[in-house]
This record gives sequence, C-alpha cells and structure tokens, in this order.
Amino acid sequence: MKLTPIFLSLAMAGACSHATANAVDEHTYANLNDVITTHLHLDLDVDFADKQLEGFVEHTLQWQDNSSKTLVLDTRDLDIDKIMYQDQNGGWHKASYTLAKRDDVKGSKLTITFKSQAQKARIYYNSRPEASGLQWLTPEQTASKTHPFMYSQSQAIHARSWIPVQDTPAMRVTYSARIHTPKDVRAVMSADNKDALYKDGDYIFDMPQAISPYLIAIGAGNLEFKAMSKQTGIFAEPTILDASVAEFNDTQAMIDKTNAMYGEYAWGRYDLLMLPPSFPFGGMENPRLSFITPTVVAGDKSLVNLIAHELAHSWSGNLVTNATWEDLWLNEGFTSYVENRIMEEVFGRDRAVMEQALDAAGLRAQLKTIDAPDTRLNLKLNGRDPDDAFSSVPYTKGQLFLIYLENKYGRDKFDPFVKTYFNEFSFKSLTTAEFVTYIKANLIEKYPGVVSMDKVNEWIFEPGLPADAPNPTSDAFDKVDNATQTWLTGSTTAAQLPTNNWTVHEWLHFLNNLPRDLSIEKMTELDAEFNLTQSTNAERAFAWYMLAVGNGYQAIYPALDNHLSGIGRRKLIVPLYKALVTHGKREWANKVYLNARPGYHPLAQGTIDALFVK
Ligand code: BES
Ligand code: ZN
Repeated sequence: MKLTPIFLSLAMAGACSHATANAVDEHTYANLNDVITTHLHLDLDVDFADKQLEGFVEHTLQWQDNSSKTLVLDTRDLDIDKIMYQDQNGGWHKASYTLAKRDDVKGSKLTITFKSQAQKARIYYNSRPEASGLQWLTPEQTASKTHPFMYSQSQAIHARSWIPVQDTPAMRVTYSARIHTPKDVRAVMSADNKDALYKDGDYIFDMPQAISPYLIAIGAGNLEFKAMSKQTGIFAEPTILDASVAEFNDTQAMIDKTNAMYGEYAWGRYDLLMLPPSFPFGGMENPRLSFITPTVVAGDKSLVNLIAHELAHSWSGNLVTNATWEDLWLNEGFTSYVENRIMEEVFGRDRAVMEQALDAAGLRAQLKTIDAPDTRLNLKLNGRDPDDAFSSVPYTKGQLFLIYLENKYGRDKFDPFVKTYFNEFSFKSLTTAEFVTYIKANLIEKYPGVVSMDKVNEWIFEPGLPADAPNPTSDAFDKVDNATQTWLTGSTTAAQLPTNNWTVHEWLHFLNNLPRDLSIEKMTELDAEFNLTQSTNAERAFAWYMLAVGNGYQAIYPALDNHLSGIGRRKLIVPLYKALVTHGKREWANKVYLNARPGYHPLAQGTIDALFVK
C-alpha cells in the first residue's frame, strides 16, 4: 500500500483527441506544481453556540519546486486569525498572507508567503455559520431533541469552507485530528474512530491512508454505537440506532461479496453514520465511515442499495479517484455498476435487474430535460460549480456503459478487467483521458473485434445514449404493466391489482409509469385502496406525490407538507418543488418552503432558492 501522496500525472495530453489538452482541475487555486501537502493535522473546537469550527490546521509540506516559497490554498468564508510556519531548522515564524476577494464558485484564494521553504504551515482560523460544507442543527432539529448535531459534506468543493486546503481530488493526504466537543456530544470522522468510543468531549483521530480532501469528514451529536459484525457498525442517535442496525445488517455480506469480486477492502473497518433527515444526499462515501440519510430506513431493506453504493465507493472513488470533477463518472458510474453487482450477489438477480430498470427509466426521463452537452459522461464544467451540473448522467449512463461492456465481453473477461483497473490505480487519481488509454490497451485491443474505440468514445464523449445502449427489462415489471393496463381500461378494479407480493420496486415502477392525466376518480380509488398518501417508505411516498401533483389530486397536500418539511434529501424534495411550481402551486410551495428552509442544508437551500426567485 502506498501512503505517500500521489499527485496526478498530467502527461496525458494528446492521448485521445477528445481529451482536454490540459487536464488541470479548474476548481482549485492550489499551486500543486510548487508544493503539495502530504499530511494535515486538525485541532478544532466544535462550537455549537457560535456554529463554528475553531482552531488550527497544520499542513506538512513537500516542495516540488526549489525556487518557490508560496503556498496557495482554497478557502471559502473562513476567518483567518494568523499563520505560522516551521522552517527547515525547526524554528517557528509568522507567515504573511493575503486572502483574495471571494469568487462565487471557487471561494477565496489564500496566498501564504514564507521567507524560506517551510516544513509545516499552521493556519489558525474559524469557519462561519453559513459554511457551505457544514450543517449545524439545534436539538429540536434532531431525532432525539436533546443535543445539537453538526456534520460536514465536503464533496465536491466544500472542504474549503471548513478547512483551508488544496481542495482538489487530484491530490491525496493522510490526516490526523484532535476534536473538542461539549462533554456529552460524540465526534466521529472519516478515520479510525476507536477513540470516539469513549465519550468525553476530547477525541483523537487518525487516517493513515492517503485520501482526497473531499473525503475528509466530521460529524458530532448525540451518537451511540452498535456493532453489526466484526468489521461493521453504526453510529446513530439512540432513537434510530436499533432500526438502522436491523435495516443494514447485510453490510458485512456486501463487503465479503465485493472482496471476492474486486479485491480485498482496503480500509479496515466500515461503519455507518446515520445523519439527521436534513442530510441533502442519500449517502456519502466518507472512507471508513459512510454518511447515510435516515430516509432509507424503511423497515424492509427495500432501499439498502444505498449502502451497496456507498460501500462500492471504497473501490471506485476512494481508492481510484476522479482527478477532476469533470471526471465524476469514473467515481459514480463505476460505483453504480459495482453497487448493482453487489445487490445481485446479496439479494439476487431479479431485484438487481429491477433496480437497473428503474434507474435506466429515470435516466431516459432526465435526458430530455438536460442540455445536450451536460449529457456527456466526460463533463465540461467551464468554470461552473460541479453541483450545478449534477445529474444521473455520470451515475446511470456510466453504469449502462459498463453493463454494455459486460454484455459484450462476458463476465469472465470483464470482471478481471475491472478488478485489475482498481488494483492498478489504487490510491491514485486519474482523468477520463487516462482511463481511455487504459481501456484501449487492457480491454479493447486485448480482445480485438468485440467493441471499437469509436464506440468507447461515443459513450464517453458524445451526448445522450448510443442507439445500442442496454435497456434493462424486468419480467416482474412486465407483469405490473399488464395489470396496470387492465385497471386503466376499466376491466379490473384497483383492489384486483396483484399488489400483495409487490416489492417497493414494483410499486415505484407502477407509480412512475401511470399517466399524468389520470382522472381524480382513479387517483381516489388508488389512495382509498392502498393508503398511498400516508406511505411510510420515502421513495414510494415521493413517487405518489409526484403523480398526484402532476394530476392535480388535492388530498395529498397536508401529507406533502410533512414530507417536504421533514426531510432535506434533495432527490426527494427538489423535483416536488419544481413540479409544484409548474403545476400552478407556486404560492403553496413557497409557503411550505419558507417554513422548511431553516431546517434544510445550505446546499438544498441554494438549489430551492433558485426556484423561487422571480
Ligand atoms: N458521492 C455521492 C454524493 C455526491 C456526489 C455528493 C457528488 C456531492 C457531489 C454519493 O455516493 C451518492 O452518489 N449518493 C447517492 C446514492 C444513490 C445513487 C444510491 C444519493 O445521495 O442519492
Ligand atoms: Zn456515489
């Protein structure tokens, strides 16, 4: 295992005609050619009263250029108190620095100048309450209502809002931390959490494996721990700990199956941190400790593909990392593919195919609403915030590309290719161009006459889906479609729909495919028969509310208000706000939003604010 930072080699220019000639991460100010950080040490107080992290970060530096004496870091909305540095003889001195004007996307460039090449630089600072990468919750906003809660979400470029850092996935650091909290609050990090098991308000963390800065993560709250197996466990507020353990107790089986397919899990323990419902994502693959939304604790394991997904990032993403945010598909496409392979191993082929079909249908619908250039796997961000180009393209189009290759080569050839790729690039960051070079030599030209490089390039660099893209179909869904037709044409009643053995997946397929001009009588009949407005499964409730808003079915509104006010996962709320606005419910939606907004994460606030500016 390599513990030294591996800095992206930029030698790929010209490897492929489609590749950007200069594969530099446009979202960082860092002067990586002069100097890189190899290790970070954080010493921070979690100050709930002022909603700030306060203390210092110490960078251990490795100079790349003998003539440079300048360290440039990324920051956003940080207050810098002072900067000290240690010279080559061990003496500490004050460094001079300038903090540039804030750029809306990249934040403020911090330029630090030393008198000689520093070994270490210590920046004393605090984050601000509005830090884009942190959420601060009052006790009332948590499940247990007794303690405050805070957590970070650094991907894509939010680490800089709580740590002055070279905030690019092109580089990697090891890190350590000492974190102070109120005595009755437990802190955890994307690191070795052994010391967090003893709750005393003073915690030491160590992450001896080099990771990209977007994977540095912290959470603090009324957290208890329960083991699920020797290698896995859950940190959660006591009120949801047992339900989470019951929901996710297949995690060890998922690890074991993935080890067998793609090589040994590299990170030691794999624990989960259950976040408050306002977490804007489903999950986040922070190494050793995935962050998870409580909206997937459905009681029937129907949404545990989320765990398979975050776990899969332990190979694609955390081991093998996209060098820039334009290469996000290398993280998310491979992860979606591996996620589904894990689901097949643990829950069987039928369920895995249903999940493929639901995602593929979701992608095909989304493709109609996204500007063509943003439907390419290799994104062109052109200075935009990576969050603004976020869609299911890197996920599901990426996954379909890999399923396409799997179908063409067969698993006996394709699986070893993926395993070797993970092994070859482990603890490295790579660009799409480097991937193209790799696949050309190790798959396309190794087995000639199966898939052409033109086809590979079409998948990666052209908009939309190739005409021969896989179109996953499920027998179970065909049965749902047949039953739906007989109900729609009036030959059967809702009570006669064969829903008794429907899983959540079949429900989702059913609801997503019902016409958006269904009569109020039909909507009422469904609701009366299946109590859909009161669905406790967050995904099923979401699908029903989308249908109901589209069809002008009014009975959902009190329940929809609860749904929108109770959770902050963007995928489950943003499309609803959008649908409400387009279906003449702007005023109602705005009122609900004004009430819910203080409980949402800054990221969700940003997305939804944009819908209501007139
Ligand atoms: N790493 C992502 C979340 C992310 C991506 C945050 C890009 C910021 C920028 C995480 O692994 C993820 O994809 N979560 C999905 C899971 C789903 C596809 C099963 C989510 O949150 O919905
Ligand atoms: Zn992911």
